[in-house]
Amino acid sequence: MTKNIIFYFTGTGNSLKVAKDVAKGIEDCQVVSMTAYAAHKEALPLHDAQRIGFVFPVYGSVPNFVRRFITETALPRHKDLYYFTIVTCGHFKWNSIATAHTLLREKGIPLNAGFAVKMVANAIGLYAIPANVDAILKKAQRHIDVIAEAIQRKQSNRIQRRNPLISWPDKFVQAIPMMDKDFNISTECKGCGVCEKVCPVKNIEILHARPVFQHRCEQCLACIHHCPAQALNIGNKTQHRKRYINPDVGLKELIQGNTQVNTPAVGYWD
Ligand SMILES: Cc1cc2nc3c(=O)[nH]c(=O)nc-3n(C[C@H](O)[C@H](O)[C@H](O)COP(=O)(O)O)c2cc1C
Ligand code: SF4
Ligand code: SF4
Repeated sequence: MTKNIIFYFTGTGNSLKVAKDVAKGIEDCQVVSMTAYAAHKEALPLHDAQRIGFVFPVYGSVPNFVRRFITETALPRHKDLYYFTIVTCGHFKWNSIATAHTLLREKGIPLNAGFAVKMVANAIGLYAIPANVDAILKKAQRHIDVIAEAIQRKQSNRIQRRNPLISWPDKFVQAIPMMDKDFNISTECKGCGVCEKVCPVKNIEILHARPVFQHRCEQCLACIHHCPAQALNIGNKTQHRKRYINPDVGLKELIQGNTQVNTPAVGYWD
């Protein structure tokens, strides 16, 4: 039975990269996507776990899927069990850690530690991908290594309280499922199906060799960033913007991770 489990949610791989790096330093640790686990809970018993972690991007706050995951997953509680969360963001974590803390507390689960890592901001509907990706990732790596050590030691930290003045993200996350209405498909689309496979929540169906969006979007932007033809765009904002995928995460592992709980343990993908 796996002793340490890190659940991740990701669009462009930053959060999976962090999850994998933290897992490397912990013996007997499995990195599992929240989407796969939500569909196959029986494949991975949690009751004997020593560490359980949640790693996900900041979308103003906690992504909708992650909120549901934390709320709906039967999480064990025993004295040796250490819970942690790591959020990845481009600039600001806002209330994301505090919100995860609240969601867990409502289930009677203590959050022992929360961390935020600044990585490459991927919301290309709002801004261009920064020019200094390598420098951002290098700095992030140093921070990830420090966090990984803290988690190995099961170090607790003080979880910041929710700031009531930051309330806009809650409205923003409510609007997210329908935001795929702004997505459009150019004539460059080859009907390859990569967008359908990489979508973590099955929000895309390929019909007549074209993606059709189902309006249960998470705005993870995996489809936009991974389309090999750069045929997917958000309104008229992204046609000339560079795409971004974390360089330490492959398309194959993202796709496999979306559906398979028991992907081989850490190390397999390296
Ligand atoms: C819909 C959306 C909203 C975002 N909101 C924020 C935000 O409020 N603050 C921030 O710093 N980064 C924000 N980002 C950037 C991501 O949190 C950041 O790039 C993250 O590392 C992406 O993780 P991933 O590669 O695992 O998907 C947002 C990204 C998206 C797609
Ligand atoms: S990934 Fe791009 S090219 Fe392939 S089907 Fe989707 S939109 Fe078309
Ligand atoms: S449709 Fe695209 S942005 Fe929406 S959840 Fe799927 S991959 Fe993410």
